[in-house]
Amino acid sequence: MRPLAGWGGGLLSEPSEPSTGADAVDRPPPSRESPRIPDYLQKFYWWAYLSPWAVRLFEREWLVNLILWGNYGRLRDAVLAELGQSSAQNVLQIACVYGDFTRRLVSQLGTAGRLDVVDVAPIQLANLRRKLAADARLRLSLQDASALCFAGASFDSTVLFFLLHEQPAGVRAATLAEAVRVTRPGGRIVIVDYHRPVASHPLRYLMRGVLHALEPFALDLWRQEIAEFLPAGWTPAAIEKTTSFGGLYQKVVIRV
Ligand SMILES: C[S@@+](CC[C@H](N)C(=O)[O-])C[C@H]1O[C@@H](n2cnc3c(N)ncnc32)[C@H](O)[C@@H]1O
Repeated sequence: MRPLAGWGGGLLSEPSEPSTGADAVDRPPPSRESPRIPDYLQKFYWWAYLSPWAVRLFEREWLVNLILWGNYGRLRDAVLAELGQSSAQNVLQIACVYGDFTRRLVSQLGTAGRLDVVDVAPIQLANLRRKLAADARLRLSLQDASALCFAGASFDSTVLFFLLHEQPAGVRAATLAEAVRVTRPGGRIVIVDYHRPVASHPLRYLMRGVLHALEPFALDLWRQEIAEFLPAGWTPAAIEKTTSFGGLYQKVVIRV
């Protein structure tokens, strides 16, 4: 193991392969106990995120790109373009992403910018740490998206990349409520996820079958708008939705 200096101000170790992740958190959540891994992750996504062999298998950008029918780079870049290159932005990425997503987010931050990444799976945080160079602007922490430990209005921008389709409706609503709470008024929440494709989409029936078989909550996003999961009684300043690849993917920008 090689020590790395300066990440979040601390001394860290670089594991040679995916570890269980127990050493991956830069700071403990300030006031709550470590979250437990939610049942839906353990039951339906263990094969994608929770075991060392899963991380080894899926931590390949070409594979993630294949799963997204060649759209990974375009969808990632749509998020980056949305955030722009403001030098002093505080950005929150809710949940780790395979590939170079976070590295690109960091490289777009100015010197006064900051990126917080939270995930509920220690192994995912350990994997992310291994992928990134030490950088004092970056902090990783073990938190559940549906019960964040940040103070309200802490971030200029909050990013959710293909997380919401994995969550049961109640957790999805709680995650969005937390995103709204921690994003400052005037800031934005940028979401990229699945969406119902057009009726004539050549992949429509294949994707319906794949999502039905492997991702039991994903088809919610074919049936309902993301806006329907926002807190009742809360009115965003604006919501802009754009779809791509025949409607199979959506980008939703919520102005808080
Ligand atoms: C962002 S999603 C999907 C990412 C995408 N499929 C990719 O290319 O990597 C996957 C991540 O969400 C995390 N996750 C799922 N539910 C979570 C929750 N309630 N709180 C925090 N992280 C969560 C998982 O541990 C996993 O690292």
